[in-house]
Amino acid sequence: MSDIILETRGLTKHYGGVHALSDANFTLRRGEHVAIMGDNGAGKSTFVRQITGVEQPTRGQIIFDGVEQAFDGPIKAREAGIETVFQNLALADDLDVPSNLFLGREKFRFKLGPFSILDKKAMLEATKAALEKTAVKIPSLSNTIRNMSGGQRQCVAIARTAAFKSKLVIMDEPTAALGVQETAQVENIIRTLKEAGEPLILISHNMRQVFDLVDRIVVFRRGRIVANLRKEDTDGQDVVAYITGAKTGSEYEAA
Ligand SMILES: Nc1ncnc2c1ncn2[C@@H]1O[C@H](COP(=O)(O)OP(=O)(O)O)[C@@H](O)[C@H]1O
Ligand SMILES: [Mg+2]
Repeated sequence: MSDIILETRGLTKHYGGVHALSDANFTLRRGEHVAIMGDNGAGKSTFVRQITGVEQPTRGQIIFDGVEQAFDGPIKAREAGIETVFQNLALADDLDVPSNLFLGREKFRFKLGPFSILDKKAMLEATKAALEKTAVKIPSLSNTIRNMSGGQRQCVAIARTAAFKSKLVIMDEPTAALGVQETAQVENIIRTLKEAGEPLILISHNMRQVFDLVDRIVVFRRGRIVANLRKEDTDGQDVVAYITGAKTGSEYEAA
């Protein structure tokens, strides 16, 4: 089994004339936590949408868990073991918390052809256990998502990544809209994932958070990867210099 869980080679996405992502060569090792940083419009979310099957790249390769992949939708990526919290959340407003956690992988008490009965009790118990594990507090699990605060919704989405064993977790700016306490909860989930050996890609603008949590920082600028830095070899000032383009530095090297 290869040490690498995800690799992209020459991954490129154009939207008409907009070169949102150009020739991204990226690797992630098993168990590794990597931050992607970069200014607004640098191509971070575009990169995530290509590797999670939300969009199809203009060109380039995606090798996930040793196999070249062309996911034709986010469900396919999820079935392959990639759990993603997108920048713009994809939660079902009219469903309660357990239903959102189990969306696409419901537990059934009974299933025969088109006839099925959901196992609500099992899903509720599993939801409680998942939220307990992540220390996320949601007052009433049977509330529909629609009635929750932005922070609570985000926490449900993030708890989902920790509730199921996955091969890769991706979070696109998970704490950008959260308060201090909720941010701390999300950071705890990320630490739990690290302890469980689950690799993570974290997109974040929060330098303190990035240096607290990850092993490596990859900087995107104008659609290109411009730096690949081991945490111990860099600091906040250095990273900002790459983000702003003050430092263009050496060619991209494998850290
Ligand atoms: N669907 C789209 N159509 C056209 N341009 C897009 C689309 N999505 C993103 N872009 C452009 O691609 C570039 C990268 O955007 P994005 O990946 O969202 O950056 P980031 O997540 O780093 O802020 C930006 O110039 C953005 O305007
Ligand atoms: Mg983005």
